[in-house]
Amino acid sequence: MQFETKYVQLADGRVCKLMPNTSEYAQDMIDYLKKTSAETPFLLRNPDEVSYTLDAEKAILDRLYEDPRSVMMVALVDGKVAGNGSINGMGEKRKVRHRCGLAIALYQEYWRLGIGKAMMEYLTDLAKEIGYKQVELEVVADNERATALYKKSGFVEYGRRPKALLFDDGIYHDEILMCKSL
Ligand SMILES: CC(C)(COP(=O)(O)OP(=O)(O)OC[C@H]1O[C@@H](n2cnc3c(N)ncnc32)[C@H](O)[C@@H]1OP(=O)(O)O)[C@@H](O)C(=O)NCCC(=O)NCCS
Repeated sequence: MQFETKYVQLADGRVCKLMPNTSEYAQDMIDYLKKTSAETPFLLRNPDEVSYTLDAEKAILDRLYEDPRSVMMVALVDGKVAGNGSINGMGEKRKVRHRCGLAIALYQEYWRLGIGKAMMEYLTDLAKEIGYKQVELEVVADNERATALYKKSGFVEYGRRPKALLFDDGIYHDEILMCKSL
């Protein structure tokens, strides 16, 4: 969906621009998915599993931009992509239309500057504006940085999915299930 651009002052004095992600950034998003999934083990994809073509990625970004119940947010610092965040509905059936999922990831060089916190705030505000009543997310149990950010943003733990992820080194990882009422 379309939403207003927000400017955020970062801890190092730079300014971060939070705005709708559009097909203009399709190649940047493919590069971002590949690099971030190599920089952290806590994202769902392994780097070799990022296989979007440019046209497919453009189509996804166009569709999400036109969808009034989805948010695709890019964070730009000095005109360069620093990260991305999203809100997506859990389904259109009346019994679940009030629920949405949230996801966020930044390039490692932009961690600890306050971008995560600002994006969580803006994403949950937009989810509320759309009309969602509950935001949900899953986080790998040992992802302390993200879990701390989510707790600070008002999310509470409501469960744990054992052995949710199997990493390439053969080790299983649980996921923590978190949600926030809007
Ligand atoms: C998780 C992530 C989005 C956090 O973003 P960030 O911009 O680094 O977070 P912020 O700088 O806004 O920090 C948010 C808060 O968490 C706190 N925090 C950061 N790292 C922490 C840690 N290791 N332990 C405890 N608290 C921590 C900060 O103190 C900050 O709170 P404060 O501003 O009140 O002091 C980012 O690190 C990231 O993209 N990680 C890789 C991808 C990922 O794991 N995504 C989540 C998948 S579920």
